[in-house]
Amino acid sequence: MATSRRLVNWMLGTSVGALLVSTFYPVARFISPPDIPEASTNQVEAGPTNDPELLERGFKIIRFGNEPVILVRVSDSDFRAFAGTCTHLDCIVEFQKDEERLWCNCHNGEYSLQGEVVAGPPPHALEPFKVDLVSKGSGQPQTIVVSRV
Ligand code: FES
Repeated sequence: MATSRRLVNWMLGTSVGALLVSTFYPVARFISPPDIPEASTNQVEAGPTNDPELLERGFKIIRFGNEPVILVRVSDSDFRAFAGTCTHLDCIVEFQKDEERLWCNCHNGEYSLQGEVVAGPPPHALEPFKVDLVSKGSGQPQTIVVSRV
């Protein structure tokens, strides 16, 4: 009798213990994730200069590691890139071809094509990126390479 009671107590104790561990361990790992260094990106290829999205809209958002970067086609040979998040509250900016400006529709923030703040609440300029056009061979469109300044 005493042996079976101890067995039941042991089973209950270990079940409750397992339940507590399986419940709280994931919560604890979520609250305090392990330190894993992010791989840094210094350069990305952003596609050919004749990218249909660039030709039609005049811009596209590319991934630069974990960061969005806005790539703007100002002319056939003038491409510019800036951090794609507004310096006000991190909304994604867009290029308005007709207005020749970078614009944030969250609070009507406006930047010049040099990334400088022109109007609205953004506190400072967009971070610029370097853009190079690289030839991949005769007859091929150039490749747009974006890198950190
Ligand atoms: S987040 Fe861009 S203007 Fe507010």
